[in-house]
Amino acid sequence: EQRLKLKDLCLLLYFYIISSCHATKPNMLNVHLVPHTHDDVGWLKTVDQYFYGDRNDIQHAGVQYILDSVVDQLLKNPDRRFIYVETAFFYRWWKQQSSSMQQTVKKLVNEGRLEFVNGGWCMSDEATTHYSAVIDQMTMGLRFLNETFGPCGRPRVAWHIDPFGHAREHASMFAQMGYDGFFFGRLDYQDRARRRRDKEQELLWRASDSLTPPMADLFTGILPNGYNPPEGFCWDQSCDDPPIRDDPDLEDYNVDDVVRRFLAIANSQAIVYKTDHIIMTMGSDFQYENANLWYKNLDKLIHYVNALQANGSKVNVLYSTPSCYLQELHRANLTWALKMDDFFPYADDAHDFWTGYFTSRPALKRYERISNSNLQVTCNQLEVLSGPASRKGPFGEGDSQTMKKAMAVAQHHDAVSGTEKQHVANDYARRLAHGWQRCQVLVSNSLAALSGSSAERMYCDNLNISVCPLTESINVYNPLARPVTWPVRLPVNGTAYLVSDANALSVSVFQVVPVSAATREVRRNRGFAVNELVFQVQAPPLGFTTYSVSLLQDGPPPASTQHRTPTAIQNKFLRVTFDPDTGLLSSLSNLETKQTIKLTQNFYWYNASDGNNLQSDQPSGAYIFRPNSSTPFLISKTAKTESIQTSGVQEVRQWFAPWVSQVVRLYTDSKALELEWTVGPVPIDDDLGKEVITRLDTSIKTSQYFYTDSNGREMLQRKTDFRPTWNLRQSEPIAGNYYPINSRAFIKDDVDQLTVVTDRSQGGGSIHNGSLEIMLHRRLLYDDVRGVGEPLNETSNIFPKGLVVRGRLLLSLDRPPSAADAHRPLAQEVVLQPLYDNPKKFSGLQAALPPAVHLLTLTQWDKDSVLLRLEHQFQSWESKLNSQPVTVNLQKLFSTLEVLGVSELNLSANQWKDEMTRFHWTPMTGTGHLNLFIRFYYISS
Ligand SMILES: *[C@@H]1O[C@H](CO)[C@@H](O)[C@H](O)[C@H]1NC(C)=O
Ligand SMILES: *[C@@H]1O[C@H](CO)[C@@H](O)[C@H](O)[C@H]1NC(C)=O
Ligand SMILES: *[C@@H]1O[C@H](CO)[C@@H](O)[C@H](O)[C@H]1NC(C)=O
Ligand SMILES: *[C@@H]1O[C@H](CO)[C@@H](O)[C@H](O)[C@H]1NC(C)=O
Ligand SMILES: *[C@@H]1O[C@H](CO)[C@@H](O)[C@H](O)[C@H]1NC(C)=O
Ligand SMILES: [Zn+2]
Repeated sequence: EQRLKLKDLCLLLYFYIISSCHATKPNMLNVHLVPHTHDDVGWLKTVDQYFYGDRNDIQHAGVQYILDSVVDQLLKNPDRRFIYVETAFFYRWWKQQSSSMQQTVKKLVNEGRLEFVNGGWCMSDEATTHYSAVIDQMTMGLRFLNETFGPCGRPRVAWHIDPFGHAREHASMFAQMGYDGFFFGRLDYQDRARRRRDKEQELLWRASDSLTPPMADLFTGILPNGYNPPEGFCWDQSCDDPPIRDDPDLEDYNVDDVVRRFLAIANSQAIVYKTDHIIMTMGSDFQYENANLWYKNLDKLIHYVNALQANGSKVNVLYSTPSCYLQELHRANLTWALKMDDFFPYADDAHDFWTGYFTSRPALKRYERISNSNLQVTCNQLEVLSGPASRKGPFGEGDSQTMKKAMAVAQHHDAVSGTEKQHVANDYARRLAHGWQRCQVLVSNSLAALSGSSAERMYCDNLNISVCPLTESINVYNPLARPVTWPVRLPVNGTAYLVSDANALSVSVFQVVPVSAATREVRRNRGFAVNELVFQVQAPPLGFTTYSVSLLQDGPPPASTQHRTPTAIQNKFLRVTFDPDTGLLSSLSNLETKQTIKLTQNFYWYNASDGNNLQSDQPSGAYIFRPNSSTPFLISKTAKTESIQTSGVQEVRQWFAPWVSQVVRLYTDSKALELEWTVGPVPIDDDLGKEVITRLDTSIKTSQYFYTDSNGREMLQRKTDFRPTWNLRQSEPIAGNYYPINSRAFIKDDVDQLTVVTDRSQGGGSIHNGSLEIMLHRRLLYDDVRGVGEPLNETSNIFPKGLVVRGRLLLSLDRPPSAADAHRPLAQEVVLQPLYDNPKKFSGLQAALPPAVHLLTLTQWDKDSVLLRLEHQFQSWESKLNSQPVTVNLQKLFSTLEVLGVSELNLSANQWKDEMTRFHWTPMTGTGHLNLFIRFYYISS
């Protein structure tokens, strides 16, 4: 019954939006003025400094005052409209309001005078975010709006006016979240010019090649002037444009001039859009702190421009919102150009490619990624599997909210993107760290409840640098819905150990490997173990298992280190050869499929442009990548090597320079080759900014094509010096060919596919045939004049001479038709890492899910319901085996939960699926640009 009532409400709302929009006039040009503010969830100041308006010496901005002032001004004139976007701020403000103020605001929302658009916790970055974290942050914001305002608070329009390029996966997610349309401000300047000419600034984005249209179709509008008001019409306190002076008795009467200028702008804008409705964004960054200035002038503008209609003017101006504007575009019933690729990379001029931020702040990017893993695994899943006992137990009170909020804030387009000031980056990291603390209490309680032992638990947060307090037993939690084998490397002092699994069925002796000089260097004085014990663990789906580790008194000595380059290392799956003269990789073979490619890998740096250049004065910076030359410097032609072999692992340690080293690592049971790189401190004593890459050069015939993922989900085809929807004039042969790599990239020809899985978002490209390069670290000496006002020159207390960053690339070589069967699970294992801690075996699932199904979300929703997201993770063309539809029995899924009922929701969980109705849009047929997009299907062999 309740559901029925809600349905009626939604229908009501649908008509309501239509009726709360101001009437437009047929046969006129209708100009929709959209008053708005763009409030970054941290950038030059931290999110809380922005909220309060603290540190106005850095930037004058205070969101609390904006909301105070706007509400006040909306109440003064019912015609006025405002939109609000970032729920992280709105939530902060709402909590502080009196209940009478809250009632007033509800009325404004119900009447369509205050409209929420986008409505996520933040406006996420599109290049460097992982889809699972984006869905979560949107869910958090939209849930607050639903619970606070009901259906009238549900945003119908997605609004990404500032992100620096747009990902196809974001459009797909927005469609599945039920949005009717999407607006953004930034796109490549050549793309914009072409679209203006062809009136294609509005389009239908078909954002998935696997979901049946219109499931992932999203109407997309490109705003006329970024997100700023037209030239001469900024009436914020931060602007200098002339106010409307309309008293003829006073000096400087300017109404005629203002109206003339406005009509000229409106008419020229109308020429490049398709319908007789146009939009103007009346606001900008942190505007409307004194909203009276804006509204007083907008009231007058509307009055004086419309007064001319009496004299035959055909221009009608109105207060509007994106959903009112969208509704008119929908009513126009036209057909729209279809777009199937994405909007990367973004350039705002010939030498200004925003492709540096794909890699900026690599340590923060890794911390954000591993925090997501930690949130999904420890906070969310264990909270569900062990219930309330996890939130309050022998270890105190824990929660998942702190980490959820920290993660939501970190998705902002100046957070994980790396384009914030240093003190703000520190603030994001501090919030995540606090989230980890709260999660660990929750997880300790949860494991105590599940295992019945409340022994003190310790966590290995620093395993990557061989720091971990564990020695006797290790508990491994597997967050994936299938059994997985992971390598574990534990820092120890002994030389040989007995390792036995939970049932003590398998007991093996393992030798240790000495901790490398490079690791000691990064570890500094944060750990002292001299050896690493390496073995592989297997854990059940969504469950944990315990291994015990005991020192073997008279065991074998540590594996001995060989100081010459081995010709090859191999396990039963892979063989890797080295060039004995250079110490570099020389080939990679898959022994199962019997394929071999030539593969050399080395490290290089591009000399960052300092801005002193004849072509342009654009330097490289936090946003922009602009190498001074297209030829990178080789760091060293040869690598000094040493190698070590135990029954668990084979390692070749390569040393290229005091600031660049790598471990080529092959675990005994692994189908992937691990390259663990360590880069930094990047030297700057030569006064040259450096952008460090690793490049894989292979015998694969790529003929300019390569493939990158979109937000960690679907794969997109890329082609060097080419864009699918316009004729590119390439002006930056390196930076203009860089694309975001969120979790993986591959190159292939008919017989070989080399896939590289990354452990964080990075930028990369395929500049030469057979080659794939990935940017690992950047250290720059100049600001790139996009507002952040600092060079990207990261140091820390532990690394005062410059940040040292360590990461992993996993390489797999496969036959193209079945490569996805290998690389999808591999990428998952990197995104969702197992949890290690010290103590029986337990699985939250009755049986593993089929390989095509990924358990994306399992989180407590309220007292007696959980939110479960299952996804089919294969693209339609990717795998003969795994791309097929699959069926999952929810009744028989969990071992600790009994399923009483299930309701299906949209992707962001703020609407019941059966109540989700979206505008229908018709694509143009036979557009000239459509045929430029090359669909790729594998021919089954
Ligand atoms: C309309 O035209 C008349 C005659 O030219 C003029 O007096 C009047 O001011 C005009 N009205 C407006 C609003 O400009
Ligand atoms: C939209 O246009 C199509 C033809 O282009 C027409 O058949 C249809 O009736 C129109 N719909 C509306 C609501 O006007
Ligand atoms: C290894 O020995 C060092 C001293 O040599 C000590 O500081 C460290 O705690 C020991 N580590 C482990 C894991 O036992
Ligand atoms: C970069 O950081 C180093 C170390 O803190 C400092 O000495 C140097 O002045 C900085 N350079 C610039 C251009 O900020
Ligand atoms: C939206 O919020 C209302 C009121 O709290 C709640 O009853 C409803 O279940 C929510 N809708 C969804 C889809 O969660
Ligand atoms: Zn912004």
